[in-house]
Amino acid sequence: MILQIVKYPDPVLKKKAEPVDKISKEVFTLADDMIETMLSNDGLGLAATQVSSPLRLFVINISLDGDAPKPMVVINPRIISQEGLEVHEEGCLSFPELYLNIERPQKVRIHAKDLYNENAILDATGLLARAVMHEIDHLDGILFIERVAKIAQEEQEKILKYLETLSQNK
Ligand code: NI
Repeated sequence: MILQIVKYPDPVLKKKAEPVDKISKEVFTLADDMIETMLSNDGLGLAATQVSSPLRLFVINISLDGDAPKPMVVINPRIISQEGLEVHEEGCLSFPELYLNIERPQKVRIHAKDLYNENAILDATGLLARAVMHEIDHLDGILFIERVAKIAQEEQEKILKYLETLSQNK
């Protein structure tokens, strides 16, 4: 079943997800519907938050070469490590038509569970790492427009510090 995707500024998008403690039949159905919804919208990933579910899970299409889609269900993801930084354009199904340059790690390793409650380690680089981080952000109630604001703010602080140094050296 194709689910309704919550669009910004719906406050649901700011909710922090709750860990999945049991992989019930409902979780299976939700994951299945989320995959269908992601693929029918040409999305690279979709977080449960975006379909009004409070559960900490997302789906991602790990086929990046345009071949047959390879959807993957990621439950209770936790970031183990991240490396490097890269700025690239990204979009979000909750913000149709908006594409923003966002800084993300170049490489990430996450720990998660799959639908069979098996522990899984997911290593992702480039576009896939970006998608993983974007979806984990959704589960933490963080939107990509806030990532832009964060960089801008950090740069603004650097400028202010620099200007302070200039005035002190006068
Ligand atoms: Ni998104």
